[in-house]
Amino acid sequence: MEKTFYLEYIINELIEEEVIIMIKKIEVSKLKRGMFVSKFDRPWIETPFLFSRMLIKDDHQIEKIKKYCIHVYIDTEKGLDSEESIHIAEADKKIEHEMKETIQEALKRAPPPVEEKVKFEEEIKEAKKVHVETKEVIKNVLSDIRMGKSVSTNDAKKVVDDMTESIMRNRDALLCLTQLKSKDEYTSLHSINVCVLCLTFGRHMGYQKIDLKTLGVGALLHDIGKMKIPNEVLNKAGALTNEEFEIMKKHTIYSAEILSKTHDLPQRALEIPLQHHERYNGTGYPKGLKGDEIGVFGMISSIVDVYDAITSNRVYHTGMHAHEALKRMYEWRGKDFHPTLMERFIQNVGIYPFGTLAGLTTSQIGIVISINRLHVLRPKVLLIIDEKGKLYGDPQAIDLTEKSPDGKNYKWSIENVIDPVTCHIDPQQFLKNKGILYDSGK
Ligand SMILES: [Fe+2]
Repeated sequence: MEKTFYLEYIINELIEEEVIIMIKKIEVSKLKRGMFVSKFDRPWIETPFLFSRMLIKDDHQIEKIKKYCIHVYIDTEKGLDSEESIHIAEADKKIEHEMKETIQEALKRAPPPVEEKVKFEEEIKEAKKVHVETKEVIKNVLSDIRMGKSVSTNDAKKVVDDMTESIMRNRDALLCLTQLKSKDEYTSLHSINVCVLCLTFGRHMGYQKIDLKTLGVGALLHDIGKMKIPNEVLNKAGALTNEEFEIMKKHTIYSAEILSKTHDLPQRALEIPLQHHERYNGTGYPKGLKGDEIGVFGMISSIVDVYDAITSNRVYHTGMHAHEALKRMYEWRGKDFHPTLMERFIQNVGIYPFGTLAGLTTSQIGIVISINRLHVLRPKVLLIIDEKGKLYGDPQAIDLTEKSPDGKNYKWSIENVIDPVTCHIDPQQFLKNKGILYDSGK
């Protein structure tokens, strides 16, 4: 296998579109008239632009882009270049380095990570069981709302209790199941993933069970109001018009309305449906809250919601791999997300999250199967491809903290992260074969 890895999802898209020419990354503040914007710095379409490709003709356009983006990508063949733009590969390397440094520095100041009570291997069976149950529950809730029935949150609360217990024993078992991605089951898996990611994040932040349960139930049901959005808007493949986007925004209010009619739901749980689309700089919806006007549960759920959405496959697009998503979100911190919370989120899921395809310094390739929250660059990895590019018959797990016999150097280190899409490797399948993941379609 050729060891050339394209980390940048944008590069891939541009290659597909045969415009690999001179695409450069530039800060929005450095944009000038005459430059040709070929892409924004975010894949989701929560901007008032129908197209992300445009020739900058006036300052008004720049002001509008500034509101939503930190960087943009310019095509220097179609428009002006600037000395302040950087080639995308170089920009990617820089941000990778900065993210690793920041997270490792922040870890030195952070309290030691919570110790797990039981081993991953012991918890995974229970985690799968509750995951299957939760999927059933959320499917029923969604279908009840679609049919206009009243909703009971008792079943949802029961599965959230079970998930909380699982996460209190070992947060990685359920966390690894967030790797289950299926475009056919996006809505239900997204609801579960947001719930699990919120719970593990809350646990990482040291929350007590009572708060975790409130956070969890709000997260599991955060998008139920989408069932009241017309299908042609909800499932539209492509950019929404301004009118459609206004309709879509209402799902936050609808979710909160539905939940407020149910009994025994802690009031604070409503913060999640209401605020998961609010953004730190005030550009979110429905209220355009800014900074600390957004509650902590709201901020947590906004990070988690974006992370799962951009790493998921949808009918009309393939998600980014998790490491790539973290890099992009790290760049958006301070604008979209509370900066410290964003850093803590990365510590919790790991710089190389579960399921990351890692190219090692030995030229072997492996899949991350366990996060090391003390040594964030040294997770456990399942070796799947040897140094000659051949698949191992019986993949073995290695621990990247292991040193060579003389104790001086590490035996393996991660050199690069491989995009499974460009290499046609499916980490999910390997993890299913290993018995870690299960077939979520069944
Ligand atoms: Fe939402």
